[in-house]
Amino acid sequence: MIITGLRGVGKTVLLGQFRSKALAAGWVVLELEVSKHDDQRFRLDVASRLRTTLLELSPKAKWNERFQHALSVLRSFTLSVDQAGTLSVGMSAAPADGYADHGDLTLDLTDLLVAVGEAARSVNRGVVLLFDEIQFLQQPQLEALIAALHKLVQRELPVTLVGAGLPQIAELAGDAKSYAERLFKFPAIGRLNDQDARRALLEPAEQEGADFADEALDRAVELTAGYPYFIQELGHALWGVAEGTTITAADLERTIPIYESKLDASFFRVRLDRATEMQRAYLRAMAGLGPLPQKAADVAAVLGRQSTQLGPTRAELINMGLLYTPEHGFAAFTVPHFDQFMLRAMPVLSIPDGRPRRTPPRQGPTKGPGHAE
Ligand SMILES: Nc1ncnc2c1ncn2[C@@H]1O[C@H](COP(=O)(O)OP(=O)(O)OP(=O)(O)O)[C@@H](O)[C@H]1O
Ligand SMILES: [Mg+2]
Repeated sequence: MIITGLRGVGKTVLLGQFRSKALAAGWVVLELEVSKHDDQRFRLDVASRLRTTLLELSPKAKWNERFQHALSVLRSFTLSVDQAGTLSVGMSAAPADGYADHGDLTLDLTDLLVAVGEAARSVNRGVVLLFDEIQFLQQPQLEALIAALHKLVQRELPVTLVGAGLPQIAELAGDAKSYAERLFKFPAIGRLNDQDARRALLEPAEQEGADFADEALDRAVELTAGYPYFIQELGHALWGVAEGTTITAADLERTIPIYESKLDASFFRVRLDRATEMQRAYLRAMAGLGPLPQKAADVAAVLGRQSTQLGPTRAELINMGLLYTPEHGFAAFTVPHFDQFMLRAMPVLSIPDGRPRRTPPRQGPTKGPGHAE
């Protein structure tokens, strides 16, 4: 399956749960946090982890011919990027002629995962690949992964994948291969409903002998809109501020500045660190229009340009994982409440090579983007 959701909704936490479950069932876990790398680096990352996987499946001394073969395939897979053979140091393996040496990522990755799957099956064990930030896979890498998994399913080999990433990924995988839709489930996770958000705050407090006044809980749910990471930060700050055993609405009001400055300084701020002036202006223009997905043309209009002129900026922001496209022609923030942050961080919209302009206060709903609950 591939879990999708906005920033801070608990995707990585969930992958951690899958990890524990898989290990408890005696499976071997391969974890990879994907970064934007070319195919060469992707090959090296995957191969070095699969080498560890082989060793975790069975100690070297007990390796049967399936394992030797898998190591040889691994050697072929990395031959073009690791001529010195650093990945097979201490393990004698000649490249396996005809396997994973096609020079095509899809064919090569399929050969490699099939060989690992056969090794796993020979010792009655399974392998789960846990890929986080999967939206950063380049299109050919994602295609290769999907095709390889398809082959593993056909061969009934005990290798499976749980990926997690921004909502963008569902569309990407859909484009990559039409059968991805049948191969994967795409559960979307989002904010907690009111009842769960209350429980997330109340239950840990109760375990410590504390309680919440109703108005305090109402306000907390409203403020966080049920986003897990916000609940975590608000609860944490609140615990430091409140003095009595009942957390009151007054405690909550006193906590808000602490909570906001913590989020601004970390969760939100890091997203802007690598953004150019033009990218910032784009984000600020979007924020002025509100939290909902915005049309490219509307954002461009705020900046006094044509949407084609801003196409590259928009594409860069999507590529950086700051925006995603919930539907064609629209873009939305991947970070909940990012619109509110941008308005705080950049009270005045200044356009590179343009005159600063004050935008009118925005209208409309202030809750998070329309997104799967
Ligand atoms: N089930 C949960 N129990 C407790 N805390 C949670 C849970 N889910 C999320 N959180 C809180 O939210 C934070 C963010 O969760 P996580 O890192 O898994 O989000 P994410 O979806 O992977 O975000 P990103 O897209 O930024 O990587 C956690 O560090 C934790 O504070
Ligand atoms: Mg994460």
